[in-house]
Amino acid sequence: MKTKKITISTFEGKYPILIGKNISSNTGNLLKKNKIFSSKVLLVVDKKVPLEMIKKIKKSIKEKKNLIYLKSNEKNKSQSNVDKILSVLLKENFNRNDCLISIGGGIIGDLSAFSASIFKRGLIYVNIPTTLLAQVDSSIGGKTGINSKFGKNLIGTFYQPKLVISDISFLKSLPKREIICGYAEIFKHSLISNRSFFNFLNKNIKEILKFKSPYIEKSIYKSCIIKKKIVEKDFKEKNLRKILNFGHTFGHAYEASLGYSSKLNHGEAVILGISSAATFSQDNKILNNNDAKLIFKHIDRISSKFSLRNFFKKTNIKKIVKFMATDKKNFDDKINLILIKKIGNVNFKYKFSLKKIEKFFLNYFRTI
Ligand SMILES: NC(=O)c1ccc[n+]([C@@H]2O[C@H](COP(=O)([O-])OP(=O)(O)OC[C@H]3O[C@@H](n4cnc5c(N)ncnc54)[C@H](O)[C@@H]3O)[C@@H](O)[C@H]2O)c1
Repeated sequence: MKTKKITISTFEGKYPILIGKNISSNTGNLLKKNKIFSSKVLLVVDKKVPLEMIKKIKKSIKEKKNLIYLKSNEKNKSQSNVDKILSVLLKENFNRNDCLISIGGGIIGDLSAFSASIFKRGLIYVNIPTTLLAQVDSSIGGKTGINSKFGKNLIGTFYQPKLVISDISFLKSLPKREIICGYAEIFKHSLISNRSFFNFLNKNIKEILKFKSPYIEKSIYKSCIIKKKIVEKDFKEKNLRKILNFGHTFGHAYEASLGYSSKLNHGEAVILGISSAATFSQDNKILNNNDAKLIFKHIDRISSKFSLRNFFKKTNIKKIVKFMATDKKNFDDKINLILIKKIGNVNFKYKFSLKKIEKFFLNYFRTI
């Protein structure tokens, strides 16, 4: 497969996303080709990324290298790990033209990008995403962040990488649940803006989930293009970019209600959230029955476990609605929802009272 290139244009300049097979083993050359001539490089690496891939990247970079290995979990997306990264950069006397490269999923990416953004007011940052979710979602758009005891991603910056190297060879070692997490975002991208991409996914879902060529490459590429178009129009999430949160208001509340337990991870919560947002849209005559059916059928093909009843009971409703009400996107006592009008078209301007949402859940649990 020929390496594909997508250029993201921001108000701070442009940067390329390269998508291909085994391209990370050429990282050293790719840095130079993209005018990154650092004399020192810090690699922040997810411990679960296969060692042979890391070895190839290290070998390709001739400059002085430092390495930090981290375990990837939400607890580690923390100020103390930012301090750890900054300490190495300071101790080794990095300057702004030197470079920090993250090799990992969204957690290592968000943490590293945040650290790079605040080091001497901005160190060169390169992202090598190693999960499907990071390749189709978190590596695009410049959101960085860490967690605190007050919540997830509440501390962060907008900061763009100079280069993203999306090597699909990393995906071979990903566990099935992580594949589904990434697929949730691909599926979401199709629903929010591209019906023909949804049709492609619907036709080829089996091959995509098995990472068969050329289906997986096309899914990643198309998905990145959709996110690119949205973030380029609205970098700071003032308007249009909100549609990327489709399914997430419900999804975040589901994750939070279960105390972020491993029973339901983020991507799975997003799929449940998409299903709820589609049901809510259908109940309120915003979405037609045919498209609703297509969406529910597709979710069932991802996995048969995506039904609210497998995770919640009627007694959980109040808790879920309470978490929905504390969502960052609400500015009054109503809940903002992003709802779907038809496949390929969503709108973020809907507002509903807490009572109405509660009734929706009550109805749901009454009908099962
Ligand atoms: N910045 C953004 O715009 C944005 C967008 C979406 C999500 N996020 C953030 O991304 C994070 C989730 O990212 P994620 O889903 O990539 O999770 P993650 O980084 O935790 O990775 C998931 C799991 O896969 C493992 N892993 C990573 N690469 C691997 C590989 N090649 N082989 C085997 N295992 C591998 C990790 O160790 C981890 O256990 C969340 O913190 C979320 O807030 C950020």
